[in-house]
Amino acid sequence: MISPSFSLFFLAVVFTFQVPGLQGKTKGGSPGEVKSDPTTCHNFTVGTPKERKFYSPNYPNYYTSMTECTLILTAPPENLISVDFRGQEFRLEEDVNCTNDYLEVRDGAYGYSRMIGRYCGHKFPPIIISSYRYLHLRFHSDETIEYSGFAAQYQFIHSQEKVPERPPCRFEVTGEEARISRADIPSEQEQFTQNHGVPLDCTWVITVRAQWMSLPFLYSLFIGNVEAAKLAQKRLYT
Ligand SMILES: *[C@@H]1O[C@H](CO)[C@@H](O)[C@H](O)[C@H]1NC(C)=O
Ligand SMILES: *[C@@H]1O[C@H](CO)[C@@H](O)[C@H](O)[C@H]1NC(C)=O
Repeated sequence: MISPSFSLFFLAVVFTFQVPGLQGKTKGGSPGEVKSDPTTCHNFTVGTPKERKFYSPNYPNYYTSMTECTLILTAPPENLISVDFRGQEFRLEEDVNCTNDYLEVRDGAYGYSRMIGRYCGHKFPPIIISSYRYLHLRFHSDETIEYSGFAAQYQFIHSQEKVPERPPCRFEVTGEEARISRADIPSEQEQFTQNHGVPLDCTWVITVRAQWMSLPFLYSLFIGNVEAAKLAQKRLYT
């Protein structure tokens, strides 16, 4: 469900800073470090696929502190995803704006896709139905106060309307200097947005050498389209 005001041309730029040797270092989790390794996240990212279930990390035991796990659910073409969190319980640390421990659900494949909701505390989230084939879920816990978490069940729903399959629009950029522009976007992408009335959605992943930084340069990108530039800046994903 994309509101018309949202169907603006936007670009999302993902900056990736790869530091060799850091990956996997969090395994075992020394204090102060965020745990996001496959073992810690297994119950969330893998769960029990046969039953189409996933859980908070370490379920049914208390979830671990300082944990960050991501799950991208993908339905077969022409299907949507429905997720039901009403298992035996839903127990995360309670706080007004869900900033300490939370489950975040986004309507798409990416960490910058439209947010459906952020859930915490002891109330079951509503049943969630995706607009397309993907849901992006993120579990986050801080240093203190853990609970038993949740169990979730998902289903694929064949949608009445044919869900258009968006061709991926993703570019990898590396090196000491590079130019990216709208000219990178193939004409099929432009056509798709016109035919289906959806926003253009492209990602440039910029990878630089360890200890180097890439400099943002968004304004030169958006000459003549200030609204899009503002939107893209808001969505700048680091
Ligand atoms: C969580 O993961 C552990 C270790 O892989 C496994 O033994 C346990 O059964 C999982 N919990 C659920 C509810 O599947
Ligand atoms: C929660 O969010 C609202 C609105 O953004 C803000 O005014 C309020 O201060 C926040 N409360 C806490 C406890 O952070």
